Amino acid sequence: MISVELPILYKHEFDFTENDFRLIRKLIYDHAGISLNDAKQNLVYSRLSRRLRANNLKNFSDYLKFLATNHAEWQLFINALTTNRTAFFREPHHFPILAEHIRKLGTKEMITLWSCAASTGEEPYSIAMTMVKLFGSYTPPVRIIATDIDTEVLESAKAGIYSIDKVDMFTPSQLKPFFLKGKGNNEGLVKIRNELKNMVTFRQLNLLSEEWPVRGPFSAIFCRNVMIYLDQQTKLKILDRFAPLLTPQGLLFVGHSENIVLLTNRFKMHSRTVYQLQRF
Ligand SMILES: C[S@@+](CC[C@H](N)C(=O)[O-])C[C@H]1O[C@@H](n2cnc3c(N)ncnc32)[C@H](O)[C@@H]1O
Repeated sequence: MISVELPILYKHEFDFTENDFRLIRKLIYDHAGISLNDAKQNLVYSRLSRRLRANNLKNFSDYLKFLATNHAEWQLFINALTTNRTAFFREPHHFPILAEHIRKLGTKEMITLWSCAASTGEEPYSIAMTMVKLFGSYTPPVRIIATDIDTEVLESAKAGIYSIDKVDMFTPSQLKPFFLKGKGNNEGLVKIRNELKNMVTFRQLNLLSEEWPVRGPFSAIFCRNVMIYLDQQTKLKILDRFAPLLTPQGLLFVGHSENIVLLTNRFKMHSRTVYQLQRF
């Protein structure tokens, strides 16, 4: 048998071949819809190196064999390859638009909002803060469902503990109603107040799964800065599934670089990076 020597991409701590990269790229695309181009080889190497180290493996090819037979590793593989960068009140123009939208709806019925790529929780908690301010109450008629594919970020979102520099945009009087400041060993940390946590339900959800464990209708869906990792076909499928989950006046908030009217005619522009259902 002729053995073909595969080019080794990195000869640092672990051997990583072109073939390993191609297989990883296929696995994460098939499972999470995340589309990695050739420029992401470095990122894959550095993100997965810690999984090799944790499992005492010597190269990527052994890791891939291990992954094929180890069910529990799958989630950790996905967690390692997601990008979770987020911030409180990221894309701040969305929050007054949300407040005005909910104000117009009034309080006749319970309002349900969905943050579908919630990461470490800054987005759903920013939504919760906006609702508390709007209704002047810690128990507004609003439920927030916050989901993500990544179980690690969901755990940290549930804990609601952040380094103080993540909240440096808040003045002390803005901070006080929503966060507790850590003292002693917790100096330098802030914790989301329980009143706010009670408004948010965290749950794992893969946007690619057949079953979504959420029930609409939603007055708003936040799907921000996740579609950038997905290809056109996957985005379109997800947008098609959002449409029947929104109330007729419901709003879809997307990230700053995501223009969905180029993809589908089911939505029309409401305001910058905010969409609503097209009426036919
Ligand atoms: C960059 S963060 C965006 C966080 C927040 N929405 C924001 O805009 O600040 C992207 C999040 O999408 C999640 N994600 C990636 N693929 C996903 C999928 N197939 N289903 C659900 N969440 C996914 C990642 O785990 C990550 O937490």
